[in-house]
Amino acid sequence: MAYKRNIMITGGAGFIGSHVVRLFVKKYPQYHIINLDKLTYAGNLANLKDIEDAPNYTFVRADICDFDFVSKLIAEQNIDGIIHLAAESHVDRSIKDPFTFARTNVLGTLSLLQAARLQWEPKGYEGKLFYHISTDEVYGALELTHPEGMKPEFSAHEVYGDKFFTEDTAYNPHSPYSASKASSDHFVRAFHDTYGMPTVVTNCSNNYGPYQFPEKLIPLFINNIRHRKPLPVYGKGENVRDWLYVEDHARAIDVIFHEGRVAETYNIGGFNEWKNIDLIKVLIATVDRILGRPAGADEDLITYVTDRAGHDLRYAIDSRKLSRDLGWKPSLQFEEGIEKTVRWYLANQEWLDNVTSGDYQKYYDAMYGNR
Ligand code: NAD
Ligand code: TYD
Repeated sequence: MAYKRNIMITGGAGFIGSHVVRLFVKKYPQYHIINLDKLTYAGNLANLKDIEDAPNYTFVRADICDFDFVSKLIAEQNIDGIIHLAAESHVDRSIKDPFTFARTNVLGTLSLLQAARLQWEPKGYEGKLFYHISTDEVYGALELTHPEGMKPEFSAHEVYGDKFFTEDTAYNPHSPYSASKASSDHFVRAFHDTYGMPTVVTNCSNNYGPYQFPEKLIPLFINNIRHRKPLPVYGKGENVRDWLYVEDHARAIDVIFHEGRVAETYNIGGFNEWKNIDLIKVLIATVDRILGRPAGADEDLITYVTDRAGHDLRYAIDSRKLSRDLGWKPSLQFEEGIEKTVRWYLANQEWLDNVTSGDYQKYYDAMYGNR
């Protein structure tokens, strides 16, 4: 069958990528969705079990840095859209091993851009789009001018400072992770400005929800609370993050892929700021309630540990441009999103166990080769 579009999603076996792949495969049977993923420690095909046999879905194991392979794939599959999520994504790992982050996030993105350019440019860029998924962390850190919180009229939830990241905020990354993402964002914009490639970049706040690798705060802590293991809170737990339910991010990507303006940047976030320690108490209360433990029984698991080096104090996204221009709004209130998320991890202990033991990767080399 001739598909209306052939879209390559990179990093589709990871946390956010798997939600984007699922949404596109189900919502657009007229599109061929090609998931290109290296299956690093963060890639897990179990995240896509429910759609792996869909006729409009193809999985390809490859490294985005493999320029020849990616070029051939774009040509053979007649790829006209790329939604690029593949990345090394964990700040703590970037502190220990910055080279891997530069390789994948910077050189990998450049390799993908160049491969797409050389395939697309000769026939013209009409109908093509390179959509790069980035993070709010490229903007650096905001001050906590209102540590007790305040409520501006445009936010349903408390905020902890008077400034927000807008699309015009200057880049000021602090971690090797955010520095590598910032660099990749610049390359994407440079490909538009230099070669005329149709590109779009979005910068999103912290995501949460099912299928997140349990090295990140929310899944790690839910699992630790369940098993009554210590909860390592960095510093004083006063850092603020702006949390968005992952399916709302995937919906935003869908809207922007189809209706976003070429060469634009859109910030994605839900005006949902939480101090880490407050969020952790919500997680404890939710897990304890669902498991029938006495309220707050597990608060003594909180263990303050040495702060993360260069730990950004506050992230807060102003997503009003996206709402105004394209009508996107988050669909879930945080209370609802956290309840769904905690219930999902408690119901999917086997998924967590496979991921923490490494079992999920056992058969990949035999099944897909080791590219
Ligand atoms: P993740 O770590 O869960 O998944 C990354 C995926 O990329 C994995 O499937 C991995 O196998 C794949 N990958 C890594 N290196 C690769 C390579 N060289 N070639 C091909 N595939 C490779 O990440 P995530 O949390 O889902 O984040 C996805 C994207 O969204 C990233 O670009 C990240 O910077 C961005 N982002 C994440 C968040 C968040 O809160 N998680 C927020 C904003 C933006
Ligand atoms: P994380 O989920 O790693 O996301 P990011 O660093 O990209 O924001 O961390 C979220 C916040 O939680 C961040 O301020 C660091 C903090 N944190 C802890 O206090 N303890 C932990 O064990 C982890 C993983 C994170």
